[in-house]
Amino acid sequence: ILKTTEFISANDLASLMDVSVNDVIGKCMNLGIFASINQRLDAETITIIADEFGYDVKFTEADDETEVVEEKDRPEDLTDRAPIVTIMGHVDHGKTSLLDFIRESKVTAGEAGGITQHIGAYDVMTDSGKKVAFLDTPGHEAFTAMRARGAKITDVAIIVVAADDAVMPQTKEAINHAQVAGVPMVIAINKVDKPNANPNKIKEELANINILVEDWGGKYQCQEVSAKTGAGIEDLLEKVLLEAEVLELKANPAKSAVGTVVEAELDKGRGYVTTIMVQAGTLRVGDVVLAGAHYGKVKAMFDHKGKKVDEAGPSTPVLMLGLDGAPQAGDRFNVMESDREARDIANKREQIQREQSMRTKKHITLDEIGRRL
Ligand code: GTP
Ligand code: MG
Repeated sequence: ILKTTEFISANDLASLMDVSVNDVIGKCMNLGIFASINQRLDAETITIIADEFGYDVKFTEADDETEVVEEKDRPEDLTDRAPIVTIMGHVDHGKTSLLDFIRESKVTAGEAGGITQHIGAYDVMTDSGKKVAFLDTPGHEAFTAMRARGAKITDVAIIVVAADDAVMPQTKEAINHAQVAGVPMVIAINKVDKPNANPNKIKEELANINILVEDWGGKYQCQEVSAKTGAGIEDLLEKVLLEAEVLELKANPAKSAVGTVVEAELDKGRGYVTTIMVQAGTLRVGDVVLAGAHYGKVKAMFDHKGKKVDEAGPSTPVLMLGLDGAPQAGDRFNVMESDREARDIANKREQIQREQSMRTKKHITLDEIGRRL
């Protein structure tokens, strides 16, 4: 029996079986795979080739080479952190307007520095002096993508429903997403300033899908708001904070930073610009960051107001410069000890991604291989 992970190279497979790499490459060729010495082989190929040499393969769990072992937290190192909140809901129900109102009323004007641009995440201070970090995701697709990739980034979800409309398919979907992810929700019934607003109708429709709001005797906190006049928004934030308090959110600010990529893009002047949410530890300018299949030294960081910052602690969104490419939304990032370590893992991940996308483009089934033999 041969124990290995998926995607080892032809050379590694040869040495595991104690045969010459040329023999392995030869067998690959018989399968119609023109492998170089360092080519990584997929599970099917490894299984077939190992079988040729009389081995049964047992694949071990993770590909250790591309995993980063994160520091364990000791309880005494943990301190309170701000909640990370995502706003979800049906098209045009006012997600962006709500976020804009919160941002504009909470972010003091005139502080913009080096860069002014929309970033997909920001943090605000509520009237009660508590910080909340918001994720401004375009619809909930991003949330879905992140969840699909195993990223747990949202602590509380705000589900926006327009009071002049109805509980719509995407409202239900958003509620479903939050429930599946085990994220507590606060319902925001928006547009109550409109003459045809009917919050009670919304509450009834919510009840019909088993979402019973508090003033109807249920467990879900609900707040009537207007993103136009600002009515109810402070109360909404307090309800979100209440929900977050129950979670007793904590993180260790002293360790190397870890977190999630929110978005990334190539900017002509500044290179790759990556918005990240620091979830634990503290990120500093000069740190070596590994994010998905990319890495680099943090050249500069900016908060959501465009102000340069030197460090970012838990639950802080920042825009960073310095990566050698654009990681995907939902990718985890880690701070690494050395440039070299980061580069090695980034390269391996990139190679795996490349091979995986090639395989999905032109998937060779065992059956086809059988026919070719
Ligand atoms: P998508 O991003 O397309 O899914 O929409 P959204 O949910 O972000 O809605 P958006 O904030 O773009 O608002 C849609 C429309 O509703 C805009 O024309 C807003 O001006 C309007 N709107 C949003 N909130 C309110 C509100 O509280 N009152 C009134 N009267 N209009 C609002
Ligand atoms: Mg929007």
